[in-house]
Amino acid sequence: MCGVFAISSADINNAGEKVIEGLKKLEYRGYDSWGVATSHEMKKEVGKISCATVVFKEDSKAIGHSRWATHGGVTSENSHPHTYKTVTLVHNGIFENYLSAKNRLLQKGEKFLSDTDSEVIAHLIQEQLDLSHTPETAIQNVSQSITGRFSIVVMIEGVEEIFVARRGSPLIIGRGKGELSKTTFIASDIPAFLEYTNVVNYIDDDEMAIISNESVQFYNLLSGEEIEKRNIEVSWKEEVADKGDYNHFMIKEIFDQKQSLMSAINHTEEEIQEFISVLQSGNGVYMVACGTAHKACIAAEYYFSQIAGRKINVVPASEMPAFERFINNKTVLFAVSQSGETADILEVLEFGKKRGAKVISITNVESSSIARISQNHLPLRAGKEKAVASTKATTSQMALLLLLAYADNNRLNEGRLVLQSLASSVNDLLNPRYEEYIKSVAETLHDCRNIFIIGRNSLFPMALESAIKIMEVSYIHAQGFAAGEMKHGPIALIEKGTPCIVLGCDSETISNAMELKSRGAKIIGVSNKNNILFDQWLKIPSAGTAISIASLLPIQILSYYLATLRGLNPDMPRNLAKSVTVK
Ligand code: F6R
Repeated sequence: MCGVFAISSADINNAGEKVIEGLKKLEYRGYDSWGVATSHEMKKEVGKISCATVVFKEDSKAIGHSRWATHGGVTSENSHPHTYKTVTLVHNGIFENYLSAKNRLLQKGEKFLSDTDSEVIAHLIQEQLDLSHTPETAIQNVSQSITGRFSIVVMIEGVEEIFVARRGSPLIIGRGKGELSKTTFIASDIPAFLEYTNVVNYIDDDEMAIISNESVQFYNLLSGEEIEKRNIEVSWKEEVADKGDYNHFMIKEIFDQKQSLMSAINHTEEEIQEFISVLQSGNGVYMVACGTAHKACIAAEYYFSQIAGRKINVVPASEMPAFERFINNKTVLFAVSQSGETADILEVLEFGKKRGAKVISITNVESSSIARISQNHLPLRAGKEKAVASTKATTSQMALLLLLAYADNNRLNEGRLVLQSLASSVNDLLNPRYEEYIKSVAETLHDCRNIFIIGRNSLFPMALESAIKIMEVSYIHAQGFAAGEMKHGPIALIEKGTPCIVLGCDSETISNAMELKSRGAKIIGVSNKNNILFDQWLKIPSAGTAISIASLLPIQILSYYLATLRGLNPDMPRNLAKSVTVK
C-alpha cells in the first residue's frame, strides 16, 4: 500500500511535477492523501492525487508519496514526506517497533509533528547523522533497528544523492535512457515511470541503493557490501489507463472478461505441465491468498477435489502462522494474487522458503515480488486491473485454477474445452441489454440495508465473494453462506422483503431458498434456468464445472450498479487500496 515515486535527474528541472504525474499512476496503492518534496519545497494535501494540479519551482530532484493511512488519521500532517531537520523521507510499510523508538526520542526532548511511524524513521536517521555517520551508514544502522516491512526513499539537505532501502515492501529503480540517460526513477511499481523507461533494477529485501545523477550503486543493507545488479528490460507496454466509453474502470474491467478469460487459459501444454509437476511433487499443498483471491482459492479447493481427487489446504495468508508447523521441504505453497505484492502472502512464502518448501504462484502482475520469488509462476494475463474491486483478475484466477485441476487429472484438453465454451458464452452474455437488465434489478435493491447470498459446492465460495464485491463498492452489508448453513443461525435475520441472492438452482439449493422465501425473503436467483421461487432472475449460461465463474458476472455488474445508484465511486471505495503491502 502507499505509492512511492521519486526522481533524481541531471536532464530535467521539473522533477516535482513529474513526480506528481507518476504518483497519479500509483494512486491505486492508496488515495487518502499525498505529498511531494523537492530540494526546496514541500506540498501535501488530503485527498486524491488525481485531483492535484501543482506547480513547483525548478528542481531536478523530488520524492513523493500517495498514502493509505496505517498509523495516524488522514491529515496533511500525517501525509508523507516527513522531515526532521536535514532528513526528508517517504515510507511504505510498517515500522512495527516505532513506539519504543519514539518514546526514547521524546524523552530526549524531540518533537513530532505527526502520529506516524514514518516520521520516527526521519528522526532516527538524523540522530545517526548527528553522530557523524555517513548517510549510508545512518540508513543501514536505522534499517537494522527497524522490525516490520518497509521501503524508504530519503533526501538529505546538502547531499546530492537520494538513498533508498527495502525490506519487504516493493521498490524498483527505473534507469533513464536517451535524453534521460542521467535520470533515475524510484518507484513502488513500474507504471510510475514506464512512459520514460522499461529498463529496471529490482531492489530486493535488505538492499539499499545510492542514486546520484551519474550513477546508481547497490549495497547489502546488513553487511554494507556493494552488489552488482543487472539491468532488466521489462516487456510491459504502457497500458493507457483509458476507460474508453465506460464511466468507470470497474465496469470496463467487467466487460474486459469478454477477452481475459481466454488469455488466462492460453498457456502452452508444456507450461501447464511443468507447473503441475511441481504441484504434484509435494506432500501437501497449501494455497495462500487474501480477500477475493482467497475465495477463488476456495473454489479451486472444490475443483481439485472433484476433478483431480486432490485435497488442497486453503488458508487466508494472514492465518497461515497457525499452520506453520506443517510447512517443510515437502510442502508446496501455492500463492494466488492479482497484484503479487500482498504482504501477508509474501510473509508466508518467505517463511516457507526458509523451511525449504516449494513456492509456486499465479499473479496478474508478472514482474511482482510474488512472481519473482516463486520457483514456478503462471501469469494471468488479464491486462491491467485498475478498479480497486477485483473482477476480471478473479475470474482469470478461477479459470486458470480450474484448468490446472483438469491438468492434474491428465485432462488438460477437456478443461480447455470447458473454459473455451465458457469464454464464448461470456462473450455473448456481456452486452448492453444484459447490463441494463441488471441495473434495473439494482434499482430495486440499492436502498436495502442487508443482502444475503447462498450457494452450495463451488458456489459457496462465490457467495462469499459476492458479499465482498457488494460490500466493498456499495457499502451495503452483505454476507455469504453455504446454502445449507443458513438454517443453522443466520435465518433468524430474514424478515419480510430481505433480499437473498441464491446462486444455483439444483434441488437442494432450491429447498434452502424455499426456507428463506417461507420467512418472507425476496429471492434473486442466479442460474441458467428460471425457477418459480425467484422474484428476480439473473440469467447465466450453462457452464458445467465452470458454473462458479459464470455466476460471478451478474453479481459484479449488480455490485457496480448498487454503488453508482448510491452515488459512490466504485473504482476507489473508501478505506481500501488496490495493493495491500502491509500486514
Ligand atoms: C476485493 C479485492 C481484494 C484482493 C485482496 C488480495 O475486490 O480485490 O480482496 O483480492 O486484497 O489482493 P491480491 O489479489 O492483489 O493479492
